[in-house]
Amino acid sequence: MPSDGRTRHAERLCALDDIPDGEGKGFTRPGLGDRGDFFVVRRGAAVYGYLNRCPHAELPLDFVPDQFIDRRTGHILCAVHGATFRVADGSCLSGPCPGTALDPVSIELRGRSVFLTDARASGCQLQARSESGGDPMEDRPNRGSS
Ligand code: FES
Repeated sequence: MPSDGRTRHAERLCALDDIPDGEGKGFTRPGLGDRGDFFVVRRGAAVYGYLNRCPHAELPLDFVPDQFIDRRTGHILCAVHGATFRVADGSCLSGPCPGTALDPVSIELRGRSVFLTDARASGCQLQARSESGGDPMEDRPNRGSS
C-alpha cells in the first residue's frame, strides 16, 4: 500500500507463468490509449507494461499477436517498420523514431500474479482513503515495472 494511506486498486491480468520468460503478452482494457491495447513483457521475475502503440506511426507493434520481442536482440520490436525499444524503459533503440519511447502502463507483480494498476484503465482506478480528499491521480504510477 502506498505510504500516504491510499489504496491502489488493481486487476489481476494473469499468472506470471502465463507469459514465457523473455516474451510478451497482449491485453485490452478500456481507458488505455485509443483502443485499450497494451502488453506486458516478462524478464525473469520482472514485468514491464506499455501501450501497444508505436510512437512512430501510432500503429500496434505486434503483427502476429503476442510477438513483441525481437528474439535476436531481446528488445521490444515494432513489426511495422522495425523500430526496437528497451524493455526496461521503452526508449527507442533503433528505427525511424529516435528520441521517443513507448507509453508505459503501470503493472505490478504480486506473488506469482501480474496485476494492472494503471489508473487510466476502467475499473482500475485509484481510491483515496486519506481524510485530506486529495487528488487520487497525484500518485499515479507511470512506470510499468515492479
Ligand atoms: S509504426 Fe512502428 S516503426 Fe513504424
